Formats: sequence, C-alpha cells, structure tokens
Amino acid sequence: MTVEADLIMDRCDDLATISSQPDRLERVHLSPEHKAANALVAEWMTDAGLSTWQDPAGNQCGRLEGAEPGLPALLIGSHIDTVPDAGRYDGMLGVLLAIAVAKRIKKSGMRLPFALEVVAFSDEEGTRFGMALLGSRALAGTWDDAWWNLRDKDGISLAEAFQDFGLDPARLPGAFRRRENYVGYLETHIEQGPILEDAERQLAIVTSIAGARRYGITITGHAGHAGGTPYASRRDALVGASELVVAIERISLQTHTIGTVGRLQAFPGGVNVIPGRVELSLDLRAEFDADRDHALDLVWAAAKEICERRKLRLEKKELYRADAVLCDPELMAAVGRGIRATGDVAPMAFWSRAGHDGMAVVNLTRIAMLFLRCRGGISHHPDENVKKSDVAAALTAFEAAVLAVADTYPAAGAEA
Ligand code: GLV
Ligand code: MN
Ligand code: MN
Repeated sequence: MTVEADLIMDRCDDLATISSQPDRLERVHLSPEHKAANALVAEWMTDAGLSTWQDPAGNQCGRLEGAEPGLPALLIGSHIDTVPDAGRYDGMLGVLLAIAVAKRIKKSGMRLPFALEVVAFSDEEGTRFGMALLGSRALAGTWDDAWWNLRDKDGISLAEAFQDFGLDPARLPGAFRRRENYVGYLETHIEQGPILEDAERQLAIVTSIAGARRYGITITGHAGHAGGTPYASRRDALVGASELVVAIERISLQTHTIGTVGRLQAFPGGVNVIPGRVELSLDLRAEFDADRDHALDLVWAAAKEICERRKLRLEKKELYRADAVLCDPELMAAVGRGIRATGDVAPMAFWSRAGHDGMAVVNLTRIAMLFLRCRGGISHHPDENVKKSDVAAALTAFEAAVLAVADTYPAAGAEA
C-alpha cells in the first residue's frame, strides 16, 4: 500500500497546482481550473480501468462493471472543488482513494456483485455561488431551479457559468440518478478536526454529519464623519456587527453548537468614515437540527437587542440549509470491518462537524464515511496535511469496506 499511498499523495500535489491563484489553491465550481481538474481525474480513472464521463452537472465520473454489466453501483468518491486558500486533501484525497480502490479491484480480477461508480463532485464547498453541494444535489436529483439565478462575486449567474463551462442547463436533469441503480455511497475524508490525532488513532467510522444553516446578514446604520460625529448620535453598523460576532461565539459555546462568521465587510470602507453598512455571513451547525435551530433563535434575539439599542436595521437571508444526516448502520458496519482490516480492533466512531457530499447523496441512497487523521486537525487552510502511513491505512480500510459491502449484498437495507 505504501507505493499506492505515495502515488495518491503525489496526485494530491498535482491537483493542488490547478488553481486560479498563483500563490494559493482555489478551484471553484465551473471554472477553467475545474475543467482541467476533471480532465486529469478522468485520465487517472482511465488508467484505473474505468469507463469515464462528465455528467451534465460537471461531476467527473468513472465506472467499473461488476460481475455482469449494468448492475446497480456502489458510489464512491468525494469532491474536487476547494475553499479559498485551501489545503490539498479536503475532498481530493477521497477521490484519489476511491480511484485507487477501483484500480485494485479491477487488477485483482474480482467480480463484485455490484458495479463501482467513482465520482469527483464538482461542487461541495459552495465557494463560488454560496450554495454548497451543487454537484451532489444534482446527482441526487434534489435540484432547485431557483439556483440558476444564483450569482458569483462577478455577477455571473449559475446558468451562465454552466454555459461558459460547456454545459447546457436544460440538460441538467440528465445528471439525476435513479435510486434503483445504487447500492449505497461510501466516502473517505480527512477528519478536519483533532479527535483522531488526540486519541492517537488513524481512522474512524463517521456516525452522522452535522446539520448546517448559512445566512447572509446585512446590518445597516448610518455612515458619517469619523471626526465630527459625536458617539451619542452614531449608528455604527460595524460596532453592532462586532457585538453580534461576539454574541454568536457566546451562544455557540452555551448551546454546544458551532457558529462561525467567516466573512465580514464594512461599507463604504473609508478609514475616516463611520461604517454605515456591514455584510457578514453566519454558518451555524450542530449534531442535531433542533439544537442548531435553537441556537439560531438565540442569535436572532441577540441581534434584535443589539440593533434596537444601537438604532440599526438587520436583514437576513438564508443561503443554505442542510439537515443532519445519519449514516447507514450496515454501511457503518462495513466501514468498521474495513478499519479492523488495518489491525485496529476497536474503531472509533463519531459525528462529522464538517459538511460532506453524503448530506445530498442520502436523498438517493444510503451513505457512510471513513475518516482519517489530519495533522493538527487543520483543514480549510494550506497547512492541511496527512501522513502517508495514514493514507495507506485508509486505502486498506476503504478497500476492505467495499469488499465488506459486497459480502453482505444484497441485504435488507439495500435498494436492489
Ligand atoms: C465543508 O467543508 C463544510 O463543512 O463547510
Ligand atoms: Mn471543505
Ligand atoms: Mn470536503
């Protein structure tokens, strides 16, 4: 497995060179870099012995037939889009591990009772259009036509971006998969947190994926002269927004939820002008949807109090919502068997604080995930890193998990 782990890490390095920025990694949905990454991934899929195609949503796909052509498929993979100034393993590592597993199975001559479909999802992060999981939502058939009017920061609509990429929005329904054609979905992903590293363990079973809601918030006050406007008459939107940011952290800690303001911009942005308007983002997630929604109620109550006291106006728009998703017990058991194949006799199991494509794919088929340790728990940052030995262990575990699914297929929980 070491040679394969080496190749996987080299390929993560290769993908990291495909970036819209000269000094950092950024590769967003339907960009020229997305096109180049799809082409490279398609080459690697072909090298693994898969037939390949790009689906009408821009997802790069590959297929290895099972014991006979046309069987339902076990979907395996992850995403190849990134956040701004990204690391090189979030998503990409899961795609490359899936290709490596398919290649091993192809080379072994094994005839699985299902096909393997490897997918490199086009958009999981939502970096470009604010709406996450566009690739996996298309595949799962939970597309909302209202999304065609989403715009990126340059004002390009999602429909225009499809056309610029060479995709026809009218053909998007061709990406919707049919439930009866799938056995389940398995994804390997870096943990993006410190639990495994703190426990000195390599791999874990994911039990569920956190639910998340994201908002765009605008706080409006009144701009004015930084010198001449007395404090008593200021309506400083940035001071109000700052109070809200601190309140979000306090509420998150109190309610055991996770709230983040990742974007904040003050207008008009002059050094000697009181900010009259602030736009900020809110990402709020929790293991359970009810906890997340309760924390949100507290955030809006705090925002109301701050804005009334400071004579500010608050507007909010929900940009994204994904409810918490449970992993399938039978597939989790297969992932557990996979991890045991690495010599870890009592695999850890915990919920994912990060969002994943499985949140969308669950509307098509049952899902489960394998986590591997990442250095310092760091992710969404260029310092994201993994150990080669952990990648090798993940490959062993992922392949064994796929074979464990085959052992119990067709089973009560399977669609076929
Ligand atoms: C995706 O990485 C997310 O959890 O936001
Ligand atoms: Mn991510
Ligand atoms: Mn990811």
